[in-house]
Amino acid sequence: MTTVLGIETSCDETAVAIVCDGRRVLSNVVASQFDLHAKYGGVVPEIASRAHIERLDGMIAAAMEQADVGRDQIDLVSVSNTPGLVGSLLIGVTAAKTLAWAWAKPLVAVSHVEAHATSAAIDLPAPPWPAVALVVSGGHTSLFYIRDYDAIEPLGVTIDDAAGEAFDKVASILDLGYPGGPAVERTAAAGNPCAVDFPRTMLGPDSLDFSFSGIKTAVLYHVHGHGQTSGGLARLSRQDVADIAASFQQAVVDVLARKTLLAFEKTGAQTVVAGGGVTANRALRRRLEQDCREAGVALHLPPMGYCTDNAAMVAVLGYHLFCRGRRCDLSVSAMP
Ligand code: KG4
Ligand code: ZN
Repeated sequence: MTTVLGIETSCDETAVAIVCDGRRVLSNVVASQFDLHAKYGGVVPEIASRAHIERLDGMIAAAMEQADVGRDQIDLVSVSNTPGLVGSLLIGVTAAKTLAWAWAKPLVAVSHVEAHATSAAIDLPAPPWPAVALVVSGGHTSLFYIRDYDAIEPLGVTIDDAAGEAFDKVASILDLGYPGGPAVERTAAAGNPCAVDFPRTMLGPDSLDFSFSGIKTAVLYHVHGHGQTSGGLARLSRQDVADIAASFQQAVVDVLARKTLLAFEKTGAQTVVAGGGVTANRALRRRLEQDCREAGVALHLPPMGYCTDNAAMVAVLGYHLFCRGRRCDLSVSAMP
């Protein structure tokens, strides 16, 4: 049995998990910083790293207590060291290196994005590879071809905004609060997804890259009037706002699903997986389920608790990389 302590601090969530053999999650604690950043409408890096410093020790203790695991039972420390906010990453990486050194445990550093890409496998009896993976979060929108945990190739990436970032910005335009993704989804539930024909930017029939800056601007001009950036929201009814949220969500989901299925057709993968905060969106989950069913391909989505940032996915990927020979020494650092 291999028991892994996972640490995740790449952005504004302080997260620690204890996972056995890459599958059995003994604890998975996450402290969000929404309250600290809400009044700024986005993550303030300096505030995020200070909050990680204040919280991380207590979170590690809490995760070990919940799992009923002492330091002697931990076999490996896994930490996300890239990509993310450099100050935030440094806190987790420094904590992981310190524990690995003090407890004389091996250390593995993993990519946060690759942890999202493989997070859907967490509950599966066998790895679903080769798979096409869609990663949709606040910082990333990417497609990968996963041959194995240590063989992950990029297929496409956003050339501007990430999908989650677009959700957050549209929530801000519609004054729905922060964090934006869940607020847009809630508002969209009462809206008509066909009310506004927002652009679906495909970047060419064969492209696996994404672009979401155009739809964000389209929402801005739709709300305020063409070429205007303020003053329009007061003229809209609650139903108008719900219709805009639903139409925006539909357009983003449409692009994400179409490109994921295109990647599947191009690569001949066996399965489709997805991960990242936006996979918590029910409209996206339903659409991927429907498209994959029609294409006759197995789809694996992360359980709700593993969509947004968490350390269980970091512990799981660390475990599989460790099994494939990956080791890091204490020179490993944060790579923003
Ligand atoms: O994976 P994550 O926690 O952090 C990053 O790695 O970026 O993703 C956070 C992003 C945010 O942009 C948030 O608005 C979005 O995921 N998100 C959602 C939903 N829940 C979170 N977007 C759409 N619908 C949701 N239900
Ligand atoms: Zn993330």
